[in-house]
Amino acid sequence: TKHLLGIKDLSTNDIQLILETAKEFKEVINRPIKKVPSLRDVTIANVFFENSTRTRLSFELAEKRLSADVVNFSASGSSVKKGETLLDTVNNILAMKVDMIVMRHASPGAPHYLSKKIKANIVNAGDGTHEHPTQALLDSFSMQEKLGDLAGKKIAIIGDILHSRVALSNIFCLQKLGAEITICGPNTLLPKYISEIGVKISHSVKDTLQWCDVANVLRIQLERQQIKYFPSLREYSLYFGINKQMLDELDKEIVLMHPGPINRGVELSSDAADSHHSIILDQVENGVAVRMAVLYLLSQQI
Ligand code: CP
Repeated sequence: TKHLLGIKDLSTNDIQLILETAKEFKEVINRPIKKVPSLRDVTIANVFFENSTRTRLSFELAEKRLSADVVNFSASGSSVKKGETLLDTVNNILAMKVDMIVMRHASPGAPHYLSKKIKANIVNAGDGTHEHPTQALLDSFSMQEKLGDLAGKKIAIIGDILHSRVALSNIFCLQKLGAEITICGPNTLLPKYISEIGVKISHSVKDTLQWCDVANVLRIQLERQQIKYFPSLREYSLYFGINKQMLDELDKEIVLMHPGPINRGVELSSDAADSHHSIILDQVENGVAVRMAVLYLLSQQI
């Protein structure tokens, strides 16, 4: 395949190939010389219409460690502010002999639309509330590092599922790898389709933590909420927030994950986020190797 638009389009073999390739790249970037020449003469534009810290820097580092030429575009400060369309913007970037586009956009389906209009490879770095495929891949990679094969493993996704692209991509990825999934959150923050896609649903964080091997905790996405949702942040943290004591009191060890950015004191207390249960910064570290694997494999299709 020429693009990475979503996990939904990938086979289990595709996912396993990406994760195996990422393992090799992780070894490479832990050597004193982190750089390989694989993408020499390939030019990549990181085109971000929405804010990002981890994804954007991680793609840029992955590209540089593969020896690609890199340009970065942010909608803020660009001619998008003068009314230039998405397609015109991207076509102008491509006119400068760019081979691949990594794009984040607030509209679900924006990279899918572009893939029908342009020749360059596209990697979806998050499209609205739809998918964030490289996040799901780095999450599965990080879980595999801790737990081995994910078949039969119990993975909980806890938080604001309604507004989360990370949740949907994780569900597709984990299902293809054979894991069991429980979605946990208040009813008002679960999408309508959730009962139709083969996941368990819980409204009890305590029961969910007791059940799972991994708790992947998501933030409340205030920026996507059109109206004031119930629960409020205070209510959310009271009924769904996770602290270190809750993790310490379980009769087993579980792995705590979060894609970032964390709303400290809302979905996670600081003592939980910074505890030995957490692999949050391992996720960020693994993001570079996983994105190197994605870019390397797609570059074979240029
Ligand atoms: N996890 C994630 O997508 O973080 P950023 O929004 O900072 O890229």
